[in-house]
Amino acid sequence: EKPILVGLLGLGTVGSGVVKIIENHQERLMHQVGCPVQIKKILVRDIYKKRDVQVDPAMLTTNATDVIDDPEIDVIIEVMGGIEETRQYLLRALRQGKHVVTANKDLMALYGSELLTVAAEHHCDLFYEASVAGGIPILRSLVDGLASDHITKLMGIVNGTTNYILTKMCKYGASYEDVLAEAQALGYAEADPTADVEGLDAARKMAILARLGFSMNIDLEDVQVKGITSITEEDLNYAKRLGYTMKLIGIAHRNGNKVEVSVQPTLLPDSHPLASVNDEYNAVYVYGEAVGETMFYGPGAGSLPTATAVVSDLVAVMKNMRLGVNGHYAVAPQYEKQLKSPAEIFSK
Ligand code: NDP
Ligand code: HSE
Repeated sequence: EKPILVGLLGLGTVGSGVVKIIENHQERLMHQVGCPVQIKKILVRDIYKKRDVQVDPAMLTTNATDVIDDPEIDVIIEVMGGIEETRQYLLRALRQGKHVVTANKDLMALYGSELLTVAAEHHCDLFYEASVAGGIPILRSLVDGLASDHITKLMGIVNGTTNYILTKMCKYGASYEDVLAEAQALGYAEADPTADVEGLDAARKMAILARLGFSMNIDLEDVQVKGITSITEEDLNYAKRLGYTMKLIGIAHRNGNKVEVSVQPTLLPDSHPLASVNDEYNAVYVYGEAVGETMFYGPGAGSLPTATAVVSDLVAVMKNMRLGVNGHYAVAPQYEKQLKSPAEIFSK
């Protein structure tokens, strides 16, 4: 059967994981979607770089056109990071009717609404599960699993790098600089880790979660952010002696018609479930009026866990392609009025 051809933008930590999962789980993917999936072209900065995954060198290119404008490619997976250049690539892909899967929270937090609008206008899928909490399927859980509930609050640890740093500093007395270097070597940190340690990465993820959880547009500028750069080993030790653990906690809650979102280092009693979320792991508490409290826990960063979310989004795209429908987790507000009513759809 004719394979679905995929173009990959980026072959770093996450991109390598995507290649491995597509190769190693081909049978499972076939079973899920009924046809093979194949990566056709991969955009990188340096085609001669030594990589921890083997790909046919002929697949690599430094020219984005080879990937985005290839008429045979149906789906673009974006795992290169960055904002402006990447935004232009994805807009170009969507305008050509290509479906998009991205792990890029920076882009989705800042330009999600624009990209979702263009996707809808061109009948394309745009999925971004990997952008929040790595391997935890939290976006789908919010919009599908908890679709019937009225969510009142979201709270959690959504940055793996800072959680790794705080855990190692607190448990083993390691220095901030050493552990940050370790988190970078393990592929958890962003290319520029400032966004991790200053809390901006977590703020962007909380904005995405809040948009989906509360179906409201959240302006990133309204998110209160404080990172972990001023936390010292002494602070952590002192808290430990008093029975507390320091975590970088994101909170989003409804306050009347408004949603308030913040990210800040927070002292939790050792008995609190989030206090024992360690290393690069993430956890998100969702409070729903009907369901009560649910907690989602899992690896928040790293190659294979993140790639799992990316390839699962690819499966969702492929299933939609076969059904002849398209969608995303949320409809951009500007596009909502153009949606068909259920009556229009089901009368056919
Ligand atoms: P890496 O830095 O490891 O990989 C980036 C890849 O993109 C590299 O292969 C690089 O090429 C390529 N690339 C970057 N910029 C360009 C460019 N301008 N032109 C061509 N190629 C380019 O990043 P990650 O894999 O860690 O992250 C990718 C995305 O996934 C980011 O948006 C990140 O926020 C997100 N993410 C990352 C997670 C993680 O655990 N690492 C978890 C969840 C999301 P080359 O290899 O030649 O340098
Ligand atoms: N740098 C991010 C983190 C990667 O540490 O959580 C996952 O989004």
